[in-house]
Amino acid sequence: MTIKKAIFPVGGLGTRFLPATKAMPKEMLPVVDKPLIQYAVEEAAAAGVEQFIFVTGRNKTAIEDHFDHSTELESVLVEKNKTQALEVVSRMLQEPGAVSYVRQQEPAGLGHAVWCARHLIGNEPVAVLLADDLILGAPALAEMTAHYKSGNMVALMEVPASDTGAYGIITPGKKDGQVTEISAIVEKPSPETAPSTKAVVGRYILEAGVFDVLSKGQRGAGGEIQLTDALAARIGHVPFHGFDFSGERFDCGSKIGFLKANIAFGLVRDELRGDLAEWLPTRL
Ligand code: G1P
Repeated sequence: MTIKKAIFPVGGLGTRFLPATKAMPKEMLPVVDKPLIQYAVEEAAAAGVEQFIFVTGRNKTAIEDHFDHSTELESVLVEKNKTQALEVVSRMLQEPGAVSYVRQQEPAGLGHAVWCARHLIGNEPVAVLLADDLILGAPALAEMTAHYKSGNMVALMEVPASDTGAYGIITPGKKDGQVTEISAIVEKPSPETAPSTKAVVGRYILEAGVFDVLSKGQRGAGGEIQLTDALAARIGHVPFHGFDFSGERFDCGSKIGFLKANIAFGLVRDELRGDLAEWLPTRL
């Protein structure tokens, strides 16, 4: 099913990347030469998304500027006949009115961020993409929309048992190819209490009922309004599936994941692969 709208929660403070994120949103950190948020937007567009909703916070104007014309830059590129660079900045613009911004007034959790976009979502399924979770290879959202029929769907990956406390963790049911039925989900359980090692990666397809649950404003793990809890509350009312996507996920919310992403994304670029592959072993 084609999903027309996507929400990008970009209100986080990015404290793990200070001082880089003091004046710049963490979503603008580049992997090779493209900001994290642009990878997420391109993944959504590749899945057929037509409306892009950013849930922002203070200090996030760079994101708005990034997805707008830069008339000064464009006229210089035209003047200097830099057609390739001009093509790069023109190609990334969505059609007028396709991008909206909603401000999350307080950092009250992922569920709260998603709920802040409720007035822009009708009674239709919507995608949520977390730019921190960068995927190399097959675009995960397109794979998910191809398999989505109704209810809620999350991207899944296997994590080491010691890491369950960093993720939403599911209780898996019947599996059919890449799609797994989910019978329960819990936010950031300790390894001792985790129901499995199947973790949620930041790609979701949500049905409207999730927003009704979020409206109650119930706080969960870490005192925050958790999207995971709203998904749990919808189990039994609508279908809930997990999807084993084909690509490779990099946790760009952590320094090591971010560094790995830069190397992996560099190695798949024709103009960088040779030099990078030759240089890397000399550093070990
Ligand atoms: C969020 C979600 C969590 C999910 C994770 C994926 O956590 O709350 O359920 O597994 O994203 O990256 P966060 O990383 O924002 O703490």
